[in-house]
Amino acid sequence: MTSLFEPVEIGKLTLANRVVMAPLTRNRAGEGQVPQRIAAEYYGQRAGVGLIVSEGTQPSAVGQGYLNTPGIFSDEQREGWRAVADAVHERGGRIVVQLMHAGRIGHPDNKPTPDVVAPSAIAAPGTIVTAEGPRDHPTPRALGTDEIADVVGEFVHAARQAVDAGLDGVEIHAANGYLVHQFLAPSSNTRTDGYGGTPANRARFAIEVVTAVAEAIGPERVGIRISPSHNIQGALEEDAAATGETYRTLVDGIAPLHIAYLSYLADPRSELIRDLRARFGGPVIANDGFGTVTSRESAQAVLDEDLADLVAVGRPVLANPDLVERWRHGAPLNEPDAGTFYGGGARGYTDYPALDA
Ligand SMILES: Cc1cc2nc3c(=O)[nH]c(=O)nc-3n(C[C@H](O)[C@H](O)[C@H](O)COP(=O)(O)O)c2cc1C
Repeated sequence: MTSLFEPVEIGKLTLANRVVMAPLTRNRAGEGQVPQRIAAEYYGQRAGVGLIVSEGTQPSAVGQGYLNTPGIFSDEQREGWRAVADAVHERGGRIVVQLMHAGRIGHPDNKPTPDVVAPSAIAAPGTIVTAEGPRDHPTPRALGTDEIADVVGEFVHAARQAVDAGLDGVEIHAANGYLVHQFLAPSSNTRTDGYGGTPANRARFAIEVVTAVAEAIGPERVGIRISPSHNIQGALEEDAAATGETYRTLVDGIAPLHIAYLSYLADPRSELIRDLRARFGGPVIANDGFGTVTSRESAQAVLDEDLADLVAVGRPVLANPDLVERWRHGAPLNEPDAGTFYGGGARGYTDYPALDA
C-alpha cells in the first residue's frame, strides 16, 4: 500500500511526499495586490509538504473577488511571487499558483475595476465581505462570446508570469463556484451560444482555458481543481446525469493533453469521481471538502483505498508549518484559528509554532 510519506511524480517533478497543501485564501496581499515578504515566509515555512498550491490568485484585475487577494498579472505581483518561489525552493519544496478568476463572486469595492463578469447576468446568492461590511453580490455582466478568448488570454498571461517568477506551475481553479465553475454549472450559465445550453457546451470554457495554458507553458506544469456537485455559492449541479456528462466531457477533453494532475474537492468514493479518475489517467489529488477537517487517518485511507495518488490538506497545514513531520511521528497538532483565516498580519499566519520550537 502507498504511504502518504512516499515520493510521487507529477509532471516533471518528483515530490518528496503525497501531502499537498490545499489552496487557502488568506487576504494578506499588499498594495497593488502584491504578495508581501511575509507571504514568502509563510509558504517557506510549509515547504515540507510534497507540493504547495498557493491561495487563489487573480489572473487579471477583473478576476479579483475578495479584498487583498494577490494577483499575478502585473510585474510587481510577479516579483512578489518570485520571492515566494525562492523561499519554497530554498527549503526543498515545490509550489504552483492557483489561478482563480472569481467571476460573479466579487464586488466593485474590492478591486481596482468596477467590472464584475460571469457567463450570465445572474447574481450569486448571499453577500460578500467588503471593507464597508457585507454587501449583496452584484448582478454581473454576461461576457460576450467575442470576449471569452480574451479571458482565456488572461489565464495564459498569468501562467506565463508564474513560470517567469520561478513557480513550478499553475492550477486552474474550476471549483467552488468561481468563474470556470460558473460556466460548468447550469444555475449560473444560461448562455445560448457555444458556451452554454448543453453539458458539453458548459465544459467548453474550462477545456479552452486548460488547453491554452498547457500550450503556453507546457502541460507538465498545469493542474486543474474541480468540485462537481459542490453546490456552493449558487453554482448548483443538481441533475446527476447532466453533471456527469459535463465533467466527463471536461475530463475527456483535457486527458489527451497529459497535464500534471486533476485535483478534486468531492467525495472520493463517489462513482463519478472514480470514473473521472479512470478517464483522466494521470495523477489525481483528493480533498473531501470542508465538512470535516482532513486528518492523517482520512488522508491515508484515501491512498489505502486507491482513490487518489495524493491528498490535498487545508486547515491542518495552515496551522502546522511542519505538518508532514508531525503526521510522520504522530505528534500533537496546533489547532487552526478561524478568526485569523482571512486578512490581518503575522498572527494566525506565520506564528503557528513548529514542533522543534
Ligand atoms: C481559509 C480557507 C481558504 C480557502 N481558500 C481556497 C482557495 O483559495 N481556493 C480553493 O480552491 N479552495 C480554498 N479553500 C478550500 C481548501 O482548499 C480545502 O478544500 C478545504 O479547507 C477542506 O480541506 P481541509 O479539511 O483539509 O481544510 C479554502 C479553505 C479555507 C479553510
